[in-house]
Amino acid sequence: MIYPAKDTFIHMAAQALQQGNVVAFPTETVYGLGANALNAEAVAKIFEIKQRPFFDPLIVHVDSLNMVQQVVATLPDIALRCMEAFWPGPLTLVLPKSNSIPEIVTAGLDTVAVRMPQHEVAQKLIQASGVPIAAPSANPFGYLSPTTAEHVAKQLGDKVDIILDGGKCPVGVESTIIKIERDAITLLRHGGIPLEEIEAVAGKVNIIKHTQVEAPGQLPYHYAPKTKIVLIKDITNIPDDSSCAIILYKKRDLPFKNIHTMYLSDNGDMRQAAANLFTCLHALDAMKLAVIYAEEIPEVGLGQAIMDRLKKAQARHS
Ligand code: TXA
Ligand code: MG
Repeated sequence: MIYPAKDTFIHMAAQALQQGNVVAFPTETVYGLGANALNAEAVAKIFEIKQRPFFDPLIVHVDSLNMVQQVVATLPDIALRCMEAFWPGPLTLVLPKSNSIPEIVTAGLDTVAVRMPQHEVAQKLIQASGVPIAAPSANPFGYLSPTTAEHVAKQLGDKVDIILDGGKCPVGVESTIIKIERDAITLLRHGGIPLEEIEAVAGKVNIIKHTQVEAPGQLPYHYAPKTKIVLIKDITNIPDDSSCAIILYKKRDLPFKNIHTMYLSDNGDMRQAAANLFTCLHALDAMKLAVIYAEEIPEVGLGQAIMDRLKKAQARHS
């Protein structure tokens, strides 16, 4: 059931977490499906509800540096610099794990992914429960991430008792994930913090095409609606047909009459485009169209995260 994210309901949700149950809650990126990260059985419920393969590790959400230290084994300087610059916020760091984190959280890896969310409701929930919260996005594995409480209810409502409603997620794409080994940083997933900003703080970031075990968000298809997605550069040749939709990067007048048209931004603002991406895909997917066309977006800044999600959505059907 959906509850407004008032203090009383946040406390109710915190209690549920302490009792080993799962709750859905808003973060600034997407909604998460959380459980006490220190309780292996509670975490197992997340995998069951999402039908997520056990080889895909979870992100652990923390509210303080103290809690980070409980979760990781070492905290290199470069990690501290990133935390100072981007936390709370949409950056996840992969670091050597401590023994307090059960294997199920990290899929048996000796590293753990940690992030301090910026969303007030997420922060209050972690504080009230007093434990780090393991949480993937609150969607069935491989499907679009939820950016509203209604998205969660629609996809997982029969399996999750408590969904805290904190409105629409302001960032709208998942966190950027980097792995830190000694002095080297490797990008595992594009996301809410653009690569360029990380490089400005921490120096060069290696980008390698990784295996699915390193970061299944890197699977060739993922984040996908059920409807076929086709990315296009030149939109002038698409069919003007009511069984199709076109997602435009910026608002403008087009000669089309029948095709459903949606805009990610008013005039090309990447933040606005990212924040609208999943909302827009959810809405169009519900219309059960034949094809959703999506205009390509410049791959700079947040455009990299947006294009990554669109390419993975397209890959499911090709
Ligand atoms: O914005 C976000 O990151 C959202 C919100 C809820 O915080 N969470 C999210 O979680 O997107 P999820 O589970 O959908 O994606 C987490 C990604 C997965 O691709 C997983 O493979 C990767 O993080 N990951 C987790 N632990 C890892 C580790 N130890 N090493 C490498 N990749 C890891
Ligand atoms: Mg996910």
